[in-house]
Amino acid sequence: MWWWAAVAVGLAVVVVVDGVVRKAHAWYWVGSLGAERRARLPPGDMGWPLVGGMWAFLRAFKSGKPDAFIDSLVGRYGRTGLYRSFMYSSPSVLVTTPEACKKVLMDDVAFVNGWPEATLNLIGTRSFTSPAMPRDEHRRLRKLTAAPVNGSTALAAYLGFIDHNVTSTLRRWSSSSEPVEFLTELRRMTFLIIVRIFMSRAAEDEGTMAALEQSYSELNHGMRAMAINLPGFAYHKALKARRKLVAVLQGVLDDRRRCPRQASVDMDMMDRLIEVEDEGGRRLEDEEIIDMLVLYLNAGHESSAHITMWATVFMQENSHILSKAKAEQEEIMKNIPLTQKGLTLRDYKKMEYLSQVIDETLRFVNISFVTFRQATRDVFVNGYLIPKGWKVQLWYRSVHMDPQLYSEPNKFNPSRWEGPPPKVGTFLPFGLGPKLCPGNDLAKLEISVFLHHFLLGYKLTRENPSCRIRYLPHPRPVDNCLAKVTRVSSNEY
Ligand code: HEM
Repeated sequence: MWWWAAVAVGLAVVVVVDGVVRKAHAWYWVGSLGAERRARLPPGDMGWPLVGGMWAFLRAFKSGKPDAFIDSLVGRYGRTGLYRSFMYSSPSVLVTTPEACKKVLMDDVAFVNGWPEATLNLIGTRSFTSPAMPRDEHRRLRKLTAAPVNGSTALAAYLGFIDHNVTSTLRRWSSSSEPVEFLTELRRMTFLIIVRIFMSRAAEDEGTMAALEQSYSELNHGMRAMAINLPGFAYHKALKARRKLVAVLQGVLDDRRRCPRQASVDMDMMDRLIEVEDEGGRRLEDEEIIDMLVLYLNAGHESSAHITMWATVFMQENSHILSKAKAEQEEIMKNIPLTQKGLTLRDYKKMEYLSQVIDETLRFVNISFVTFRQATRDVFVNGYLIPKGWKVQLWYRSVHMDPQLYSEPNKFNPSRWEGPPPKVGTFLPFGLGPKLCPGNDLAKLEISVFLHHFLLGYKLTRENPSCRIRYLPHPRPVDNCLAKVTRVSSNEY
């Protein structure tokens, strides 16, 4: 019996030590706030030093139950919408309801970007992601970079080459007797599109493209990993990839400076970034241009490729959705004059059901499940205090999977998007407010063009349909959706 007593004493010691360490850690961050401010903090738990809530977060995501993390907070503290925690080495407030997310997202004075330092080291400290970028500078550079990827004129200009890129890619896959890694190939396709928009000539250089693709793939693997900079760890590899990426982009930039473009009509984003001046005549430094490109090229292909893959997979898995989406595309085709080459924006705007399929995929997949801010001063949200300097995590995933907002949230149901648009703050795949994703229109266009051609002429047969899903950094099947793409009709162009 003595060993039972020893186990009981051991357990009691663990419980006491755990309690003491947690209290000491919480006190370290919260103690200095003073009694009054402390009392207004949202409920929560700072966990152990260094680790905080990261174990629970990683455990939930790595065990295939990503919602378990926020669900456990709601279960313990109620649906308060804000919870305090310690994440990515910082005291943090996790925001999980539409009203609270909206309040944070619309206020770019009280909240600046708050990406974890480890992520900033990968994506760069001189672009939009930087907390230090002044608000006016952010607005000026956003105007410069967002206009060429947004609005009807810009989109119409890209539609031709997106269409061409999609059709040639689908033909290439279907002519291969071997299965392809569907996600990897889609990434390649969306990457080519974004590189064409940003640094047109580089897209034609196979060596540059291969080096960029490889580096981005490694960079992304390290993006949400623990920041352990030791050989063998994903973060260490990602840092190396960033160095390679910067070297390749610097090479392209040097070439561009040596042979600047003559005609302004041919200008791509790199030319615009080189030429832009602020009111004082200051031009951007190379580091700023490169960081802006690192950000845009990454943001501009990863998410679109994932959403395209999932929308295709979900439609294939739900025959009634597939048939309805296909019927819509066939109807659109019937009304296209024989003399018309390729799709137009007018055709695209008729793809109402397809747009619902894409919105539902965005909600259901939650590719950007969280974004980051930092409080520049004490702010009250829903009556709770977010102390100055604390990080804020906006949990879009928990908004999109909330049964009070979306009935049967775990069911893929595009028809839920029929009728009026959702209430502001309840659908946040692209964020909201001054930092709303500037590529949202472009992303929806390229996804739609792909699905249009796919629905009219192709079929996907997965090698491992029930393959495990990995949720970090983005939800994807571990086999990258290994599949055969078969041409089943010549209905498309
Ligand atoms: C399905 C595709 C996409 C999704 C789901 C997506 C989602 C998002 C989200 C959630 C944000 C963060 C907003 C925030 O911090 O509040 C964001 C920011 C951003 N996205 Fe996208 N995005 C997509 C495609 C694109 C494309 C195609 C581009 C490039 C043309 C792009 C460029 C950017 C940039 C530059 C930012 C930073 C904006 C800023 O801080 O001002 N994204 N995106």
